[in-house]
Amino acid sequence: MEAKAVSLEPSQRSRKLGLSGIREIFEKAQKIPDVIRLEFGEPDFDTPDNIKAAAVRAINNGKTKYTSSAGIPELRAAISAKLSKENQVVYDAAKEVVVTAGATSAINLAFLSVADIGDEILVPDPGWATYTHAVHIVGSIPVPYPLRESAGYSFERKVAEKLVTPKTKAILINTPSNPTGAILSRSNLKEIAEFAIEKNLFVISDEVYEKFLYDGGSTKNEHVSIASLPEMKERTVTINAFSKTYAMTGWRLGYAAAAEPISAAMAKINAAESSCVSSVAQYAALEALTGPQDSVREMISAFAKRREVLVSGLNELPGFKCPMPHGAFYAFPNIRATGQNSHSLAMKIVEKGHVAVVPGSSFGAQAELNIRLAYANSLENIQLALERIRKIL
Ligand SMILES: Cc1ncc(COP(=O)(O)O)c(C=O)c1O
Repeated sequence: MEAKAVSLEPSQRSRKLGLSGIREIFEKAQKIPDVIRLEFGEPDFDTPDNIKAAAVRAINNGKTKYTSSAGIPELRAAISAKLSKENQVVYDAAKEVVVTAGATSAINLAFLSVADIGDEILVPDPGWATYTHAVHIVGSIPVPYPLRESAGYSFERKVAEKLVTPKTKAILINTPSNPTGAILSRSNLKEIAEFAIEKNLFVISDEVYEKFLYDGGSTKNEHVSIASLPEMKERTVTINAFSKTYAMTGWRLGYAAAAEPISAAMAKINAAESSCVSSVAQYAALEALTGPQDSVREMISAFAKRREVLVSGLNELPGFKCPMPHGAFYAFPNIRATGQNSHSLAMKIVEKGHVAVVPGSSFGAQAELNIRLAYANSLENIQLALERIRKIL
């Protein structure tokens, strides 16, 4: 019998998730043996030994079964203690903390818990591309709010206000920011809080880079959790992860904290979606939070040196202008004066210079004239990359 042509198609929502520019560069870079990778957003450090040992202990002690869908109680207690001590927000470990498969899953759970089909969610432009994908998965509509370089990538109420409609449900903020490296100051966060209260919005606050701060002693060195501001805990979902801080990107461990009923909704969806997060990874995360923190400090001080070298080197390249990023581990130079757009320049840099960087256009329409370089690579490679880019310019 002749096989019938299949006329089934993937869902509309799945078709809205485009391949990000990072992937495109990644595919090209894979084929270049001596390429220098500055496109990836993950620390080049190994997970600290004490964390690995805790995972091995968990395996040997039989901690290999399903856990509560919100996470093991010890880890939730450690997260709650951390949020109270470091972020000045008190969350009930038993009811208000949900352990997730990385910040990525926490963001998905947060959107699924606060928004419905057809609702609108404000996302930063430029911002991490996955936010838009996560909004599409819910069936909601992403509405990019511009963060302008001329305003230091701070939130500008007069700009965001115009985008609010009766369907707007939430605003996502990210500080320190991927891709700009900018930090939202306490006073700017107060403005966001006032805006959210007045417009009755949820705030999803992605704080995965909170430890990556470099300008010691200045106000630029302060990470403020918006949930700690008056009247904000009830409308905020605080998102964080072990991925960047403890060089644990592959372990897939993060969390979301929110007041009930949003935390209860997230735990329910987590249970339905994946039952629970890997038990072994949860025990590793418990050690990460409660064990020695020296490795975090060492990693941040290495990043601080690389930031100086990369940013000053970029500012010496013809046509490049790079503001000093205060946090995360990305430089985000403006390339307007090269006369090229971000996509064609990034392609040229990888193909001719053998350095992988990300076109700004992957992060939103506002960043057509920027490229992103992660300084999650050795000082030697950063210097070599600068040399190679100089040559092709
Ligand atoms: C701003 C931001 N949030 C979240 C994530 C993802 O974190 P995780 O690996 O914990 O899912 C990334 C990864 O690059 C990121 O840049």
